[in-house]
Amino acid sequence: MTDIFVFGAGGHAKVVIEAIRAAMPHAAIGVLDDDPGNRGRRLLGVEVVGGRDHAVAHPRVPIVPAIGDNGARWAVMEWTAEQALTLATVIHPGAIVSPSASIGPGCVLAPGAIVNAETRLGRGTIVNTGASVDHDCIVGEAVHVGPGARICGAVRIGDRSLIGVGAVVVPGIAIGGSCIVGAGAVVIRPVAEGTCVVGNPASLSTGLESCTRR
Ligand SMILES: CC(C)(COP(=O)(O)OP(=O)(O)OC[C@H]1O[C@@H](n2cnc3c(N)ncnc32)[C@H](O)[C@@H]1OP(=O)(O)O)[C@@H](O)C(=O)NCCC(=O)NCCS
Repeated sequence: MTDIFVFGAGGHAKVVIEAIRAAMPHAAIGVLDDDPGNRGRRLLGVEVVGGRDHAVAHPRVPIVPAIGDNGARWAVMEWTAEQALTLATVIHPGAIVSPSASIGPGCVLAPGAIVNAETRLGRGTIVNTGASVDHDCIVGEAVHVGPGARICGAVRIGDRSLIGVGAVVVPGIAIGGSCIVGAGAVVIRPVAEGTCVVGNPASLSTGLESCTRR
């Protein structure tokens, strides 16, 4: 009897499996993956038990979307909603979450993540290793706050945006949906929807117009 499905069989799924083990040591975990070639493979000792058909056959088992790519994770979440399947939230015991914060279904908080007072995280958002999202932020769905990123208070981040590793966002900034904030960027001005900014201070960069990496 499986207690929780981890959807995805890549590197981020390993982080999620270890967070589940730390938070729920007795939980029986199964990995789901779209690639039939991965069936029977083991990820940190956890078997890839099947694909979407397997999840549909076990509708009571909650699913944590464990794909780092925002677009792919979003697509899995949309599918689970269509199928009326339940999303599981995974919070590593080494994360710190304010009692007044709200964490949406399907979110993953990695070791050392901090979510502060009255911040709201939408469905399927990742706050990765050692990243912090301070007070009164509104973070959309399928956002990825990369390792070590620092989001100050009252920041807004739209759906499916990536905040790169080690980036800093100063207080009160609005970042649109489907944006990329490059690794190490320092964001001091609003970021328009669908754009990619890098540097300190962060700005649109020629050469990054076609940047699509999530
Ligand atoms: C911004 C980013 C998405 C660009 O990726 P890309 O489209 O493949 O861009 P390229 O590597 O081809 O670089 C294009 C130009 O942007 C510059 N650039 C790329 N990333 C940059 C960054 N983070 N800061 C400053 N400049 C950057 C490159 O130096 C290059 O400049 P040039 O044209 O003058 O040589 C990527 O570099 C990045 O920072 N990703 C963040 C990933 C991350 O943190 N994920 C979380 C992992 S858990």
